[in-house]
Amino acid sequence: MALYLQADKISKSFGDFKAVDEVSIQIEPGNCFALLGPNGAGKTTTIDMLIGLQKPDQGQVQVFGKSFQNAKSSIYSEIGIVLQQTNLYKKFTVHETLSLFASFYENSESPNDLIELLQLKSKTNERIEKLSGGMKQRLHLACALIHKPKLLFLDEPTTGLDPQSRQLLWSLIEGLKKERGCGILLTTHYMEEAEHLADLVGIIDHGKIIEKGSPHELIQKLAFKNSMIVEVENDFDQSILNAKGFETNFKGLLEKRFDQFDDQISSDLSKVSEMTGIKNISFRQSNLEDVFIKHTGRGIRD
Ligand SMILES: Nc1ncnc2c1ncn2[C@@H]1O[C@H](COP(=O)(O)OP(=O)(O)O)[C@@H](O)[C@H]1O
Ligand SMILES: [Mg+2]
Repeated sequence: MALYLQADKISKSFGDFKAVDEVSIQIEPGNCFALLGPNGAGKTTTIDMLIGLQKPDQGQVQVFGKSFQNAKSSIYSEIGIVLQQTNLYKKFTVHETLSLFASFYENSESPNDLIELLQLKSKTNERIEKLSGGMKQRLHLACALIHKPKLLFLDEPTTGLDPQSRQLLWSLIEGLKKERGCGILLTTHYMEEAEHLADLVGIIDHGKIIEKGSPHELIQKLAFKNSMIVEVENDFDQSILNAKGFETNFKGLLEKRFDQFDDQISSDLSKVSEMTGIKNISFRQSNLEDVFIKHTGRGIRD
C-alpha cells in the first residue's frame, strides 16, 4: 500500500542544540502514528518538518509520495493541521468560522455537516470566546477537516482538556480513521492517548525515537507485564524490601514488577506486612509509560 507519509531520518538543530535527531515515521492510509514524549522532546519541531513549516537539516519527508520542495500546494490541498497554538477570531460564531474556512476551497465540506460530526450543534451560533476548551478544540478540528483532507496532523490535541472532552475527541479521531480512512499523526504526552489511538507509537525523548512499534508490541517486549504497588503504614527497612524485589517507583511508592502472581509473590507480600502495616495494595498492567521508564529512568510527565 502506498504510504501517506514517509519521513526518513529527519534532523533539526537550533544552533548547537539538536532538537530532532534522525526521526523516521511512516503512516499508512487509515492508520494513526502517535509521537509520545515529554515536553521538549522534539514533537512540535518534528511536526513542523512533516508539514513543511521547517526544512529538515538532514533527511527526507514525503507526503503522498511528494516532497514540499516540488509539490507544496498539492500536499496542502490534502492535509489537515491542528497546531498546538491556534487562535480563531473570537467574535465569530462557530458557523461563521466554518463558513469562512469553507469559502477558501472549491470543494469543501458543508459547515453544518461538520458541526454535526463534531457534536457542536448546540453551539452553532455561539461566539468562539464563549466556548469551553474542549469545544474550541473540536472547532479547530472541524476547520482542519473543511477541505476533506486524507491525512491529519494533530499536535497535542487533548492537552489541558478535561477527561470527558478528551474521550469525545478520541472517539471522533477514531471515527475519522475508521470511517474515512484518514491517516493521522498525533503528538501527545498522555500514554493512555497513544495506547488508545495509535496503530504505531514512536516514543521520543531528547529528539530521538527510543522505541517504535504497536502499543501491544512495545508492552509485550517489557521484561515484566504486571506490577503490584504497596502503600505502607510505617517507615520500613528499605534494604530488606529491595532484596525482595520491591523498588521505590518514580511516584515514591513501593512497587514490585512480575509476570505471574505466584506463591513467591504472595510470600514476599506477607514479609512486607510482617515488617510494617500495609495501607493499600493495588495491581496494574504494564503500559507505555513503563517502556519510557525502562529507557530513561523517569516518567513522561516528571
Ligand atoms: N525555534 C527554536 N529555537 C531554539 N530552540 C527551539 C526552537 N524550537 C524548539 N526549540 C527547542 O527544541 C526542543 C524541542 O522543542 P519542541 O519540538 O517544541 O518539543 P515538544 O513539542 O516535544 O515539547 C526544546 O528544547 C525547545 O526549547
Ligand atoms: Mg510541542
